[in-house]
Amino acid sequence: MTFQGLFISFEGIDGAGKSTHIDALAQAFRSQGRAVTLTREPGGTPLAEKLRVLVLNDAMDAMTEALLVFAARRDHLQQLIEPALARGDVVLCDRFTDATFAYQGGGRGFDLKILSFLEQTVQFIRGPEADLIRSPDLTLWFDLAAETAAQRLAGARSPDKFEAEPVEFFRRVSEGYRQRMAACPGRFARIEADQTREAVWLDVLQAVQAKGWLA
Ligand code: TMP
Repeated sequence: MTFQGLFISFEGIDGAGKSTHIDALAQAFRSQGRAVTLTREPGGTPLAEKLRVLVLNDAMDAMTEALLVFAARRDHLQQLIEPALARGDVVLCDRFTDATFAYQGGGRGFDLKILSFLEQTVQFIRGPEADLIRSPDLTLWFDLAAETAAQRLAGARSPDKFEAEPVEFFRRVSEGYRQRMAACPGRFARIEADQTREAVWLDVLQAVQAKGWLA
């Protein structure tokens, strides 16, 4: 049986609690016979993982940060995401371009027009039948108040550069996500992340089932 590739991204501020649900969704797809590629951004390929270390640890201005995450994304798309989608895999990606609009655009205040230009350029894919700008088929946005996320993160492992940002930064990041969803409501499902893990999981499952991708 051949399947059409599916591209699902997971977004939210640090501490929103995406990780366990990404693994659970992978399991749900596999139990229905689908091959799953689990990946993340920045990262997912050897080169992009090297860029990730720089982005998460080294001080740099917002444009440098944006260029590095888009460079990582280009490699990730070419080396991993496009081949997986062509095979018919379900690609579950922990963060994608919405994170750039939310963190570099919202959080750092970097120019959204330049980000849009980079998005159109980096994600341009020449297809066998038609060219396209690759973006997720569905984005699950784990929405959690910045204050609640900060409480969850407090006392956790030593924070990276972003996790160490103040709560106001994450309010702006959340606003960045809100704007991305408003611009593209059909692609997004907003998950209320301030619930029990079980309730969040049911919402995740429902969002995917609503697309007809899981029984
Ligand atoms: P995470 O894998 O623990 O979520 O860490 C990735 C961090 O990188 C997270 O704080 C969000 C940030 N990030 C950006 O600032 N821009 C991006 O484009 C992406 C994908 C992530």
